[in-house]
Amino acid sequence: MAETQTPADLFIRPRDIVFKSASPPARWWLGGDPVATAFFNALSASFPQGERFFMDAVRHHRDTADPRLKDLIAAFLAQEAVHSREHLALNGELAERGYDFAPIERYLKKRFDFGRRLPPLSRLGATIALEHFTAILAHALLSDGDDLALAPPELKRLWHWHAIEEIEHKAVAFDAYLAATRRFSRPRRWCMRCVSMALNTIVFLQYLRFGTRELFRQDGIDNRATRRALRRYLWSKPGILRRAAPAYFAYYRPGFHPWRVDDRALIAGVEASLRG
Ligand SMILES: [Fe+2]
Ligand SMILES: [Fe+2]
Repeated sequence: MAETQTPADLFIRPRDIVFKSASPPARWWLGGDPVATAFFNALSASFPQGERFFMDAVRHHRDTADPRLKDLIAAFLAQEAVHSREHLALNGELAERGYDFAPIERYLKKRFDFGRRLPPLSRLGATIALEHFTAILAHALLSDGDDLALAPPELKRLWHWHAIEEIEHKAVAFDAYLAATRRFSRPRRWCMRCVSMALNTIVFLQYLRFGTRELFRQDGIDNRATRRALRRYLWSKPGILRRAAPAYFAYYRPGFHPWRVDDRALIAGVEASLRG
């Protein structure tokens, strides 16, 4: 892993935690706000299929990885598997409150089925782009503002736990990409990952639009006022996409690596709250 900027002493630790509430959360569990709740629910709905796609894309490169990267890949796979398990459980609880995730699952399946027909390197390119999204959203979630202040404590813990581990393994797919493209010229590598990021940004934002609107539809509030409220929620206050935007654009710089921002102190601070 000659080119990686992953800290040599980074240790990725899967925390196998079962988050179980006494009863399913309220339908609008985030402070009674259907807009904020729909954003997090749409993310949660995407994780089981999304993370399976990421795991398969990275696993494909495991056999050719050096021993250090192999270990990191194993930890990445372990973390993502538990994330999917816990989000499946959460999605099941949300379904008990009346949400039907089948339309979202069908939408995602179509896209991921298409993605699975792409060559392995394109699948890895999509994975490093979308893993960057999860890592910068996780950083924004943990570092400024408290988007989950009004969430039930157990749900806040679940999202913080997921965010911590997304930051921790943020460069595993990226390092697999560096290894897989080591014989490519620098401009070619850079170009490939930037094009992939641009395309996957569209995919991600389209999904966010579809997923939240589907949930609004089920809530009977899919109208212009709600959609405006969602834009305000995402871009203005608390504005998680606005807060993550600088880190998003950093991806397009030549020489970018996820660990150029070392946020281990951030996750160590939040981790203490998980033990509560
Ligand atoms: Fe995850
Ligand atoms: Fe991840």
